[in-house]
Amino acid sequence: MAAQMEKSQAMKRDSIATARMLSEALPHIQRHDGSIIVIKLGGHAMSSPDAMASFARDIVMMHQCNLKPVIVHGGGPMINAMLEKLEIPTEFKDGKRISTPETVEVVEMVLSGTVNKTIVQAINDQGGRAVGLSGKDAKLLVCDQAEGGLGLVGAPKKVNAGVITAMLDGGFIPVIAPLGAGEQGQTFNVNGDTAAGAIAGGLDADRLLLLTDVAGVKDGEGDVLTNLSAEQVHAMTQSGVISGGMIPKTQTALDAISNGVRAVVILDGRADNACLLELFTDHGAGSMIRA
Ligand SMILES: Nc1ncnc2c1ncn2[C@@H]1O[C@H](COP(=O)(O)OP(=O)(O)OP(=O)(O)O)[C@@H](O)[C@H]1O
Ligand SMILES: [Mg+2]
Repeated sequence: MAAQMEKSQAMKRDSIATARMLSEALPHIQRHDGSIIVIKLGGHAMSSPDAMASFARDIVMMHQCNLKPVIVHGGGPMINAMLEKLEIPTEFKDGKRISTPETVEVVEMVLSGTVNKTIVQAINDQGGRAVGLSGKDAKLLVCDQAEGGLGLVGAPKKVNAGVITAMLDGGFIPVIAPLGAGEQGQTFNVNGDTAAGAIAGGLDADRLLLLTDVAGVKDGEGDVLTNLSAEQVHAMTQSGVISGGMIPKTQTALDAISNGVRAVVILDGRADNACLLELFTDHGAGSMIRA
């Protein structure tokens, strides 16, 4: 009996805390009212079904609070797994995969197929109305072939954002696979960060959130920098402190800012409620680069 009373008291305390938290979120919800938030979900950040469900819940919550989330996803690990399964040999240049017509076929199959639909379903399972697209739909992301000899890798040159705004106006949550349409009918493989940055720029987004598998951009000592300037990014890239997959991320952040995006945040997509923490609390999360 006493144990039961204690349990019900604890539940009451939890409920009071939840109500207070919701109330405290009000100014943040108001600040972001109607704003377009582009979110890049990295391949590593979607590693577990739990993480995916938590992400999807955050997205539906944002939508419910009258924000306009637009998801762009990666999927490097899933592409590698499928290339291996199909025994398609991969050529690398400076550690980067060369996109042959054969690999792009697999990239499109995996990104536009499995990965895209997994995210769409996760959002729909939480009560949202997600629609999957790729950069090829309605020529959303028109690309030239990128320099660097990596084959069919696309460098975005034009964003036809109309299909996204139409969906947002209709109350849908767009989920976009990072493929690009070439002027000669080619299909390009586009880095997920690069695609998200271009789309955020094309939409004049209020925020670009780059969800990844680290807490943020780390300095030489391994500490996460909560605020970053363009100068710091340049210096850290020069010195090699920013390397690998963090290079396209920080470069994307700078490009997005110069294309009119108000702020870019690089944050840990594996952490529970990462997006809500960033948008709806005083605390924030990850590393922010501002205009
Ligand atoms: N200064 C740095 N701070 C933080 N991470 C860094 C830094 N320099 C390099 N990295 C690396 O960048 C990685 C994040 O980029 P990565 O491309 O691996 O992930 P992603 O973009 O989220 O996923 P995907 O490419 O599959 O979509 C980190 O896991 C880390 O190893
Ligand atoms: Mg990456």
